[in-house]
Amino acid sequence: MILKVDKNKRLKDVNPHMFGIFFEDINYAADGGLYGEMLENRSFDFFPTKINPYNSPVAAWRPVGRCELSAHSESPMNDVNPGYARIRAEAGGGISNRAYEGCYLVEGEEYVFSFYSRGKYEGKITFLLVKDGETVASASFDGAPREWEKRSATLKADRTVVGAEPRLVLEDGGEIDVDMCSLFPKNTFMGRENGLRADLAQALKELKPGFMRFPGGCIVEGNGLANRYRWKDTIGPIETRRGNWNRWQDGGVGVYAPEYYQSFGLGFYEYFLLCEDLGCEPLPVLNCGMGCQYQCDEVVPLGELDEYIQDALDLIEFANGPASSPWGAKRAECGHAEPFGLKYLAIGNEQWEEGYFERYEAFQRVIAEKHPEIKLISSSGPSAEGVEFDKAWSWLGDKGRDFAYAVDEHYYVPPRWLFANAHRYDNYDRSGPRVFAGEYACHIHGHQPRPNSLEAALAEAAMMTGFERNADVVRLAAYAPLFAREGFTQWTPDLIFFNSSEVMLTPSYYVQQMFSRNVPDYTAELSCVGCDGLYLSAGVKDGQVILKAVNAGPKPIRLELGCEGGEAESLTARGELHGRKILEAVNTMEHKDRVAPVSEAFEGGEYTLAPFSFTVLKYK
Ligand code: AHR
Repeated sequence: MILKVDKNKRLKDVNPHMFGIFFEDINYAADGGLYGEMLENRSFDFFPTKINPYNSPVAAWRPVGRCELSAHSESPMNDVNPGYARIRAEAGGGISNRAYEGCYLVEGEEYVFSFYSRGKYEGKITFLLVKDGETVASASFDGAPREWEKRSATLKADRTVVGAEPRLVLEDGGEIDVDMCSLFPKNTFMGRENGLRADLAQALKELKPGFMRFPGGCIVEGNGLANRYRWKDTIGPIETRRGNWNRWQDGGVGVYAPEYYQSFGLGFYEYFLLCEDLGCEPLPVLNCGMGCQYQCDEVVPLGELDEYIQDALDLIEFANGPASSPWGAKRAECGHAEPFGLKYLAIGNEQWEEGYFERYEAFQRVIAEKHPEIKLISSSGPSAEGVEFDKAWSWLGDKGRDFAYAVDEHYYVPPRWLFANAHRYDNYDRSGPRVFAGEYACHIHGHQPRPNSLEAALAEAAMMTGFERNADVVRLAAYAPLFAREGFTQWTPDLIFFNSSEVMLTPSYYVQQMFSRNVPDYTAELSCVGCDGLYLSAGVKDGQVILKAVNAGPKPIRLELGCEGGEAESLTARGELHGRKILEAVNTMEHKDRVAPVSEAFEGGEYTLAPFSFTVLKYK
């Protein structure tokens, strides 16, 4: 096939931040995931629900040895998180933490244990990490202070183990109250205190995202308004961040998680900081005064929306205001005097119909007046077609281009939908609002969990060629969801899987990476003779052609490019699968690179696209 890209025919400027990520605390993405804290329910404020695996008064903790563990809240350390534990133990007894699946410790690495305690106990308190009955690391403290006081110690692991059990014991027997028991690796991402798990954050860094949408998703809505996400509860000293239960406790379409809570140790300040560390734009989503429309009909009356709108104004000030402003000062207290440079703000997640339209308008009126520099994103509901979607677009269409900078479209759809919609945006109205493909992923139906197969990744890549070719309409796009802890997963597919010690990147991850690392400055005219069956987009960066091509068919396709040679990065499956079975290839913890990109140089102006592959070609 003869394929020609005319780099002098500049078509559309591409948003350099176009391809981003979507972070939601689902599948244990935050606590037990990206957030570096290794202990579960460190503040003793969460309680077992219907299922109580430890038959314990507090979630994730149980007594060990001869010990009585009880939950209390009278004269607490603070009123925001009043829960604490009382340990009454005989010599050597104490409490043990589930730590999700136990702690992963690396030989020679350091970990910081800290806790608050009080009591009349004068004996020794020891924190230890135990594996197969042997201590891997430990630290001891003398007695308990009379009033709440924080103490900490650094431990070093004497070997590498998976699944170490954290215990806090009273060596000499007695009684103490404890709160905020925390264990952090010293080696967090960028060495930050209260930081992130280094390997997971590194996987994000290597993705080179253009922006990050956070913190949800349905979690923003809450399954009712009482459970909605309140960003102000998530900043400041960690012991004063008011936790909440996680609405994904119900298991979504996966694992029921009755003790899934949000500590908010990873809160809005950390999200902004992460965006800065990743070099991407922050894109927060705020509750618009509505609970999840699938699960409740709770709405805040229009006349009572002020608190919600004020939250939005305060967030803008928290992110962008000078350190002398009230909320800018709070940011500075967190450790960041410089503004974060917030540009985008989404009002509501998946909301629809008049109830949403009226509330969006109320936010828009105030924010557009006070902060015309902020680009607002509005919702078009939970799916990218149908009555609710059409209603949203016709409402927006009547409002003029900048009433919403972009409309958030979500699609979780089968492969054939994505292939068929690769040209969806070719005919969108260029004078209407732009599009933010805020959540999308290919769902292979009939499977549970839904696989992150090569087929899913190719379908996503095909759709993304359509985003890129229509870069004037689609300004932002993010795959969803981002993280899943194996065995703790309420939703599949996801971009990155992990357990306590390992990370597994999916074929979809590599597709995202190949797009976000190869964003052209502008799209260019592409002509192709006989290129049926291929999904293509072409652009130019620094004078070099960047061509993206999905070969969704079973035969190799030879392209004559009319250049001398260049570089190719190609994603397809390796190994024992043949024919259409290749499409079912997935990566696993045991076989992490069954589907992974391979780079090579090509010469002579010809390149052959492998069957069932996605390829990025770069040439002069
Ligand atoms: O990505 C998982 C969920 O899917 C999100 O929370 C929600 O916005 C969508 O329905």
